Formats: sequence, C-alpha cells, structure tokens
Amino acid sequence: MAQRLFGHIILFSIALSSFGCQQQNAEPDLYAQPQPAHFVRLPDATSNPLTAEGVALGRRLFYDPLLSRDSTISCASCHLPERAFTDGKAIATGVGGEAGFRNAPSLANLAWINEGLFWDGRSPTLEHQALEPVENPHEMDSDWPTVLQRLRAQTAYVEAFRAAFGIRKASEINKQLAARALAQFQRTLVSADSKYDRVVRGEAAFTALEQRGRDIFFDASAELPDGECGHCHTPPLFTDQTYINNGSQPSADLMAMKDRGRGGVTGVKYENGRFRVPSLRNVALSAPYMHNGSMATLEEVIEHYNRGGHPGTNVDPKIRPLGLSETDKTALIAFLHTLTDTTFTQNPAHRSPF
Ligand code: HEC
Ligand code: HEC
Repeated sequence: MAQRLFGHIILFSIALSSFGCQQQNAEPDLYAQPQPAHFVRLPDATSNPLTAEGVALGRRLFYDPLLSRDSTISCASCHLPERAFTDGKAIATGVGGEAGFRNAPSLANLAWINEGLFWDGRSPTLEHQALEPVENPHEMDSDWPTVLQRLRAQTAYVEAFRAAFGIRKASEINKQLAARALAQFQRTLVSADSKYDRVVRGEAAFTALEQRGRDIFFDASAELPDGECGHCHTPPLFTDQTYINNGSQPSADLMAMKDRGRGGVTGVKYENGRFRVPSLRNVALSAPYMHNGSMATLEEVIEHYNRGGHPGTNVDPKIRPLGLSETDKTALIAFLHTLTDTTFTQNPAHRSPF
C-alpha cells in the first residue's frame, strides 16, 4: 500500500510541475490503522488509505457545526465521545429539534463492520455513509453545495484538504473527499482496552460476579442458565453482524411493524423487524437501548431477554424465556460493565480539535 500511495504522490508532483503550480505539497503521512492483536486483522484500505492529514481533516469535519443548515449541529452532537459516540437520547434529534426515527448508535470499531452500516445496513461503507447526515432533514438538514461553499471559503479547510488529498485549488474540495476524510477519522475510533480486553490479554481478572455474568453470556457453565447472548454478540466486536429480530418491537403482523429495519432495505417481508446486531462494547455508556431507544436501562434489557422478548413470526429462536435468577441478572450486567473502555472514551485524539 505504501508503494501505491507513493506512486500517487509521484503522479501528483508531475501534475503539479506540469501545471506550473508554485504550491509546495508535502506527502501525506501514512497513518497505521490501529489493529488490536485479538481482533481480525483488517486488510489495508487501498481506495482510501489512512493518512495523518486525512484523519485530522476528518476529525475537524466531525466536530464542525458548519455541516448543518443553521450551523448548530455537528456529527458529534449526536455522537459524543464520552458516551462512546452516542447521544443519550432514545431518538436522535437534528436541526431545530427535529426528531428522527432511530437511536444514534456507537461509532466504535466500525472499521470492522463490513456487512452494512446503519441499523438496517443500508449503507455499504463509511465513505458512503458519511454523505447522508448532511442532507438528512432529521439530522443536519443542509445540502452539499452549501457545505462545500462554506468549506471552500475557509483558508484552514483549503489547506487541510490540500494536505490530505493534494488538491490545488479551493474549487476541488468536493463531497467525496469530505466523506473520505470523515471515514478515515472514524476508522481510528477503536475500542479494545476495556477490562474484558485486559482479561483476554491476561492483564486482569474478573470478579466472581463478572465471571458468573460472562459464563451466562457465553453459556460456559453447566450449572448456570444459558443466556444465548454470545451467539449474536460474538467477541471481539460483540456483534456477529447478522440481521436479527430480537423481539424488541411487538410484531404479530410483519407488515404492520413500526420500523421494518432490514426488510425496508431488502424488500423481503420476512426480514421486517430485523436489525444489525449492535456491538455491546461500552454499552454501559450508551443508554437508551435498541434501534428505537425503547429500553432505558440495562436492567430493562435483561428483563426483556429473560421474558423472551415480544412474540413475533420471525423472532430468532434463541430469544426465549431464560429463567435467570436475580443474581444472574446482576451478574450479566456486571459483565456488560467490563466492556466499558475509558482509554477509548477519554482518548484526546478522538476529541474536538476546536
Ligand atoms: C441528529 C443526530 C445525528 C447527527 C447530526 C449525525 N448522526 Fe450519525 N447517526 C444518527 C442516527 C440516529 C443513526 C442511526 C440511523 C439509522 O440506523 O437509520 C446514525 C448512524 C451513524 C452511523 C452508522 C453506525 C453503525 O453502527 O452502523 C455512522 C457511521 C454515523 N452515524 C456517522 C455520522 C457522521 C460522520 C455524522 C456527521 C457527518 C453523523 N453521523 C451525524 C444520528 C446522527
Ligand atoms: C438472536 C440474537 C441475539 C441474542 C441471543 C441476544 N441479542 Fe442482544 N441484540 C440483538 C439484536 C438484533 C439487537 C438490536 C435489536 C433492536 O435494536 O431492535 C440487540 C440489542 C441488544 C442490546 C442493546 C444495545 C444497544 O446499543 O442498543 C443489548 C444491551 C443486548 N442486546 C444485550 C444482550 C444480552 C445481555 C443478551 C443475552 C441475555 C443478548 N443481547 C442476546 C440480538 C441478540
């Protein structure tokens, strides 16, 4: 990959000299995708390699309210680092308090999500996803021509796009480059240093209660009930990236579901009410829960699973009454708390550059 990028840079230099441009373009510095040892190794991104300049530009765009119609809302208004990039609301609200339809998900470890972004998986890549919020009337309610005009008018942005992507003039700033920068920044949002990770690395030990919760979660003990959780919330991401109806909404009639989720994207009726299994990393920080924010606390979530969820035609068979005792429930919650990663939530490199 380094070679490829280098090749591009040589081409650039030739282009620059042939256009007689006096601007000195420094090479963007390659930025290594963080790759925790116990995660699947990611292939090098060839179409949008991470560079220090690209990540810095993406971070700036992520925190800049200039992207919204009335300059009141940035990506970070709904994706706050201290809440693992969620917003604490059941349903996200955009410009002018306009309510959307769904709960804002965490942005941790999205570099590994390759089965579709958003709760319903309608977006294939981070580059594709990043184009949507600006024009979504329930989010930033602006349009790209306006945003590009604002970006081109600021010398700091022209310089930042030049450093990241080698543009020569302000008019070359376009939405695809902005989306590439946002995607690069988001690929650096890696959470892999929770207590759970430290236990996996042999650097810490669970308490007895956390261990009990872990054993229920992964069905690792014959004496304890099987919580079934680990089949869908598989480590290290704590999602297997499948689309599932976990009985989170009443769904007697597949066509009458309030939110069709995956079925709304594929048009397959049997997929109505299915959502991508969310990661549970930092879940103690990301209340309220589910695609519709219908569960306020982890206690409510555990009660939901213990009851076997709302009945429905396509609810997964692993969603069934679990027979958990009060101690089992407390233990599961204690285990979920071990997925909180303060190295991640407090990382200064993830915070606002302004
Ligand atoms: C008004 C609140 C709001 C704003 C502003 C906002 N988002 Fe989101 N974001 C959401 C909600 C809600 C969803 C889930 C929507 C869905 O699944 O249909 C989401 C989903 C996402 C996802 C998919 C995550 C996943 O797990 O699949 C990414 C990535 C993302 N947002 C990044 C951004 C970026 C980048 C910006 C700024 C350009 C931004 N968001 C602005 C509320 C917001
Ligand atoms: C059959 C697959 C499956 C099993 C088993 C399962 N889940 Fe889930 N889980 C999901 C899906 C799908 C969602 C999202 C559903 C939605 O938003 O409507 C979810 C959502 C959640 C959420 C909310 C996360 C968020 O960010 O909103 C938590 C917490 C959770 N599950 C914990 C558990 C625990 C604990 C167990 C075991 C007791 C468990 N899950 C078992 C599939 C599963």
